[in-house]
Amino acid sequence: MHEPILGTRHEHWPDEAACAARAHAMAHALQRDASLRDACIELDGPLGAGKTTFVRHLLRGLGIEGRIKSPSYAVLEPHEWRNEHGAAQSAWHFDFYRFGDPREWLDAGFRETFAGPGLKLVEWAQNAGPQRPQPDLLLAIEPGADDSRRVVHSALTPRGLALLEAGCRPLML
Ligand SMILES: Nc1ncnc2c1ncn2[C@@H]1O[C@H](COP(=O)(O)OP(=O)(O)O)[C@@H](O)[C@H]1O
Ligand SMILES: [Mg+2]
Repeated sequence: MHEPILGTRHEHWPDEAACAARAHAMAHALQRDASLRDACIELDGPLGAGKTTFVRHLLRGLGIEGRIKSPSYAVLEPHEWRNEHGAAQSAWHFDFYRFGDPREWLDAGFRETFAGPGLKLVEWAQNAGPQRPQPDLLLAIEPGADDSRRVVHSALTPRGLALLEAGCRPLML
């Protein structure tokens, strides 16, 4: 993909708590700003980088309780969270690690899911092929020694830029 990058942000997560803090800042932005709630975020990085871990912290930050399954086998785990008015909001967690057949994209209705409402959180997006839509934000997680991670955020849309900046500025009250 060669879309222009509107902004980047480099972070160092010394441990999983830093990953959780970043995820919670994004969840807070999603709760505050309805225009961000249909965003698509791709998570890049090798096995064990922390993609699923980040998604779990984000979903917890949105108030989702109970066990949060990894979609490794199912490709898609749908979730529901409640906004401040108690209205149900969708969050779709994709993992295309085992995805091989582009026809499945159409058969499974993923095109509609990506075009529809709700937050899309996508692991191994490259396996979904070029038919996937452009994400708003890309998080590339590179594992370092022990629990440390280098993370590059790249915003490809204004919505992605707003998520990239989440938690980085004083809240406007
Ligand atoms: N800084 C960190 N950020 C994210 N996960 C971390 C971090 N440090 C350690 N971990 C651990 O690394 C593992 C990442 O696994 P997972 O999220 O399943 O990776 P992926 O989905 O990228 O394959 C988890 O066991 C998590 O607890
Ligand atoms: Mg994973």
